[in-house]
Amino acid sequence: MDKLEIHGGVPLSGEIRIAGAKNSALPIMASTLLTKDTVKVGNLPHLYDITTMLELLGCMGVESIVGEKLGVEICSEPIRHFSAPYDLVKTMRASILVLGPMLAHYGQAEVALPGGCAIGSRPVNLHLSALKKMGADINVENGYIEARTKGRLKGAHIFMDLVTVTGTENVMMAATLADGQTIIENAAREPEVVDLANCLKAMGAKIFGEGTDTITIDGVKELRGCEYSVMPDRIETGTYLIAVAATRGKIKIKDTRPSILESVLSKLEEAGAQIQLGEDWISLDMKGNQPRAVSLTTAPYPAFPTDMQAQFTALNAVAEGSGLITETVFENRFMHVHEMNRMGADLKVEGNTVLVKGKDILQGAPVMATDLRASASLIIAGLMSENQTTVDRIYHIDRGYECIEEKLQLLGAKIKRLPS
Ligand code: EPU
Repeated sequence: MDKLEIHGGVPLSGEIRIAGAKNSALPIMASTLLTKDTVKVGNLPHLYDITTMLELLGCMGVESIVGEKLGVEICSEPIRHFSAPYDLVKTMRASILVLGPMLAHYGQAEVALPGGCAIGSRPVNLHLSALKKMGADINVENGYIEARTKGRLKGAHIFMDLVTVTGTENVMMAATLADGQTIIENAAREPEVVDLANCLKAMGAKIFGEGTDTITIDGVKELRGCEYSVMPDRIETGTYLIAVAATRGKIKIKDTRPSILESVLSKLEEAGAQIQLGEDWISLDMKGNQPRAVSLTTAPYPAFPTDMQAQFTALNAVAEGSGLITETVFENRFMHVHEMNRMGADLKVEGNTVLVKGKDILQGAPVMATDLRASASLIIAGLMSENQTTVDRIYHIDRGYECIEEKLQLLGAKIKRLPS
């Protein structure tokens, strides 16, 4: 397994570009199952999860042509199998996103039931109950979700008990081809849901209210091909901003979208960062100062994102003062805390909160990544430590951050990959 070796203590400085959003690209790729026409998806990030989704579509018979400039043309016309096998689902939970589109378009779908993962139990009961309400016959047997519908799914009034991002996306995709109107209440408002809705609309879907907690979808007979460019990754953007703030540096981030990062930018300003914004760029300058610790609570958009919690915990670890970090979305998303304590941080977990007492500097150590965002936080911790840190199990990071060591090197970081 590859590792990353980091020699910390260098204030990061420079300019980088942000890739397309992983969590928007994955549902958009799944949505191509809703039409027999070719869909051209652009601005795809170069990530393992994207390759896994292409592999998943490929094993069902879907044809893809990977083009230049981060684009792919996907045509589901030759589909032969309606099954997402366990081998792929276990490596990427987002595989569940093929369930709604396959069922709506082909009347059948078999998807391995995703298990728990490092950050929580992550059930998919709300995806299944909503699809059942739309008339699907669903059984879970031998570790597989088997779903069928006679004729089309039926529009339904669905109230989501919890805000679920991929649950909202699955139901929204399924509803585009249902008979009649579907209303999703307590829908996720995440920008990735809006990006998917925009792509579906470009395919001819009738969707209203995306970005609010009530989404209405009027089913249409069929969807057509389109060209769509994935929006910038807000979590990648936030991760680099925090890495630079933690090392007391300065950065300009291009090809991003500041308007979807408000909660993160306001916490960075509270931490002492000077921030300037353009339509598609953000600059941050710490003026060489140590960040101030901040307190935050994660919750669905537009509140502070759980996918940025670990990185802010790292920032607090070298901040002035102390802060409370409360996680309300996933039940077990503090695995990075114990690794950071091995680097000399002063973090205490109590229930779903971490009390962080900032230190001037951390000490490098060998540490192990447990999930994607935890890996990013350990890299940030390594960048602000004296001497050497090695981060093991970085296959997690390659799932969600495109060329992370190259981008950090561009900012002056001393980081290199140690191949296994
Ligand atoms: N939940 C249920 N039942 C369901 C669905 C969700 O109880 O049927 C619970 C979950 O266990 C969790 C909460 O609801 O406690 C929210 O989970 P959600 O369904 O919103 O998460 P997700 O859709 O599986 C997406 C992102 C995650 C991100 C979360 C929250 C994708 C592919 N994944 O996951 O991204 O953390 O929303 O914003 O969009 C990441 O990129 O590192 C990542 C984990």
